[in-house]
Amino acid sequence: MASLVVVGAQWGDEGKGKVTDFLAQAADWVVRYQGGNNAGHTVVVGGKTFKLHLLPSGVVHERVKSVIGNGVVIDPLVLLEELDRLRDLGVQDPELFISDRAHVILSYHRLQDELEEKARGDAKIGTTGRGIGPAYVDKIGRAGIRMIDFVDPERFRKRLETVLPAKNNLLAKLYGARTFTVEEILAEYAEAQARLRPMVCDTSYLLDEALKRGERVVFEGAQGTLLDVDHGTYPYVTSSSPVAAGAAVGAGVGPQRIGTVLGIVKAYTTRVGSGPFPTELKNATGDRIRERGREYGTTTGRPRRVGWFDAVMLRHSVRVNGIDNIAVMLLDVLSGFDEIQVCVAYRVGDETIRSFPADLELLAQCEPVYERFAGWHEDITGCTRFEELPQAAQDYITGLERLVGVPVALVSVGPGREQTIVRKQLL
Ligand code: GDP
Ligand code: IMO
Ligand code: MG
Repeated sequence: MASLVVVGAQWGDEGKGKVTDFLAQAADWVVRYQGGNNAGHTVVVGGKTFKLHLLPSGVVHERVKSVIGNGVVIDPLVLLEELDRLRDLGVQDPELFISDRAHVILSYHRLQDELEEKARGDAKIGTTGRGIGPAYVDKIGRAGIRMIDFVDPERFRKRLETVLPAKNNLLAKLYGARTFTVEEILAEYAEAQARLRPMVCDTSYLLDEALKRGERVVFEGAQGTLLDVDHGTYPYVTSSSPVAAGAAVGAGVGPQRIGTVLGIVKAYTTRVGSGPFPTELKNATGDRIRERGREYGTTTGRPRRVGWFDAVMLRHSVRVNGIDNIAVMLLDVLSGFDEIQVCVAYRVGDETIRSFPADLELLAQCEPVYERFAGWHEDITGCTRFEELPQAAQDYITGLERLVGVPVALVSVGPGREQTIVRKQLL
């Protein structure tokens, strides 16, 4: 298969960055198709750690071309900073192509994100505060600014003159907040405009040509299925479509161009931000997993909420994405537990629920029904073949396959690129 989409099958931070970097060894292109710098994707190579927010996780491979697709919202200042940081880490400047149709996040989007969260009070979503929601709202509301217009000083000015009055009205009248002038925004972004201009092009066309030549493409999702605006735990979601179909829309390719759909899962579950989480462990076991897995946000540093693996949720993810293979990440974090649990159904009163509910009030009442697995105590971080894993760890993986109904193609036993067990060649 010439292409593959890496999609988060839980609430984000499943290890998409690591998998994308691993698969990029055999790829020609890596494409981000949605989200923005709310994402934090960690890649560990040769002891060096790269924390990527907007750049696709193929950038550490000099051979690989990087694309930021039309579905992404780009904070130009963050992108420049990220490019500079990569240089500081001794990585060659990536060959980066930015879609002319991608939208920009400007300073007023960040301010709006902050004000909206404050206004929500107890019902706050717990956004990353990066202006993601407001930028997507402007895009859908036809008040956004695309890269093609951003990098042209005259057109950027014109677009700002059109959209800024309504934005200033909102900021001043609804929130009593500061307003922005066209001149100040033009000045703030002049450098970014000039530096990014040469990278902006029709990336849909580029990808089409590459796929016709038989080149291999990895589409890299951000966030995860349960944060998807349609299929996630709405309203506690992000404002884009991380699901596999989002790759077609967000990269500008036809859906038949996406070969394998690889769902990324942790061997347990985490979540950042608010919203129901049936298998959440607010106890010493949860604390232990959080510490062993260093479960603190890559983007905001917030402690992640932690719980057992949820097969009910995963079956929902498999269906809405068309996942045909799974990568199980952070299996090493579960070493040292006598027993590991997996949620196989929910119970509310006398009723058993087997599919993931849309009703958040119902979801909040769901008690997990667990299947128990034997734990293992060996250090597995050096295992390179499935058969080297302790029998209990192997049984846990085959148990997940049975409960989720999809084969586990990759197992990850540490953050490093080499700490990856391949059970099936994917690209
Ligand atoms: P992403 O947002 O899906 O790319 O995931 P993040 O990078 O935000 O979070 C995953 C974290 O787990 C990162 O710190 C990775 O370095 C780390 N990680 C990935 N795979 C493994 C693994 O198999 N074992 C351990 N211990 N850490 C891992
Ligand atoms: P990666 O790509 C985990 C969460 C936020 C919040 C909700 C909405 O690293 O997996 P937003 O700023 O997008 O409007 O916040 O979504 N969130 C993530 N959680 N991983 C991410 O990205 C996330 N990106 C957003 O915590 O609950
Ligand atoms: Mg992350």
